[in-house]
Amino acid sequence: MSRYQLRCRGCQQTYPAQDLHTCAACLGPLEVVYAPMGAAELRIAIERGPRSLWRYAPLLPVDGELPDEAIGLTPLVHARRLGAELGLARLYLKNDTVNPSFSFKDRVVAVAAQKAKEFGYDTIACASTGNLAGAVAAAAARHGLRAVVFVPSTVEPAKLVAPLAYGATLVEVDGTYDEVNRLVAQVAEDRRWAFVNFTLRPYYVEGSKTLLFEAAEQLGWRLPDAVVIPIASGAMYVNTGKAARELVEFGIVAPQRLRIFGAQPAGCAPVAEAFASGAERYAPVRTPRTIAHSLAIGAPADGNAALALARATEASIVASDDDAIRDAILRVARSEGIFVEPAGGVTVAALVQLARSGALARDAVVVVYLTGNGFKTPDAVDTSGARRVRVAPRLDAFDAALPERDLVEVA
Ligand SMILES: Cc1ncc(COP(=O)(O)O)c(C=O)c1O
Ligand SMILES: [Zn+2]
Repeated sequence: MSRYQLRCRGCQQTYPAQDLHTCAACLGPLEVVYAPMGAAELRIAIERGPRSLWRYAPLLPVDGELPDEAIGLTPLVHARRLGAELGLARLYLKNDTVNPSFSFKDRVVAVAAQKAKEFGYDTIACASTGNLAGAVAAAAARHGLRAVVFVPSTVEPAKLVAPLAYGATLVEVDGTYDEVNRLVAQVAEDRRWAFVNFTLRPYYVEGSKTLLFEAAEQLGWRLPDAVVIPIASGAMYVNTGKAARELVEFGIVAPQRLRIFGAQPAGCAPVAEAFASGAERYAPVRTPRTIAHSLAIGAPADGNAALALARATEASIVASDDDAIRDAILRVARSEGIFVEPAGGVTVAALVQLARSGALARDAVVVVYLTGNGFKTPDAVDTSGARRVRVAPRLDAFDAALPERDLVEVA
């Protein structure tokens, strides 16, 4: 076989890598599988590669010349202060808020845009809960493609500014994300556009493996003991399992148990609810109600696969309500200086629950994915309790307004 091919997740039928997303035999979803590679050469190739996600190109379904893009290879921060609060000595935050369009979606779009060009498309498109729209628009601008992005009209306004600035055509749909998705499936029938998270999905999801590849390399080529990952469609969650399997299969990390925990907002938690009830399949949420708009997918494409993966790795999928999400945003901002959007709040809130319940050992290597930037969602945090004074431009006014004794010590 060539370096990689497509394989059906249902009936295992294989296909040469082509512009295809469902199995012709059973309509099951397709995934990319790679031919065997030598561990030593692979590791050397990665370590000599560019300082971006493209260093993992041998484990990605792309051909030809790679673009010079500063996507990925984001910091893995040893969170000592947050870890001390939670009783975790080896807690790490994968800070994906600092990607070019300020979410992890730049990774999946990087791979999909590359495929769109290989397949000869001139337009890339997506159904988005907000962040993907920005990532697709930015990639289109870089590659000289057209972008058409579809979002529910409830998306936070700040998330629509960037796609418009990048020059995308924005389609705001009065409906839920699942309704946007259904519309996009119809549009895809008669427009020859590359829908990154639909028609190019087998390639797109491969980009989300790169967070774990990086974390493993940043830990000195080892898997963590646990990861905590936000779930919307479940693609990043499920493909973290695939990333771990590939690292072990290709011999670049030692096999070990990796528990893959999931995080959802309580107002749209179909997978967490199914996990809690012991169900094998989730029940869709018709009307999501949460401040975590980027995770508000009521019928996640990879929801049932996520459920199976949580159980197979002896982990769990945790739901947190909006108050806990807001608290968690401030907690990680104030302990580690990282400002996350609600998806990050959902993940940190799940971490807090897991740490309190004793699910994570004190010395376990725990990696938490922070996938979106808080500057895109300023209305999601409540800073009304924070210290803030307004003064005349005179020292006496300042001293009166803010005496030194009023300032509390940092913990
Ligand atoms: C910031 C952020 N984190 C996580 C996710 C979850 O992604 P997935 O659909 O792969 O579950 C999304 C999806 O939109 C997102 O915007
Ligand atoms: Zn099949």
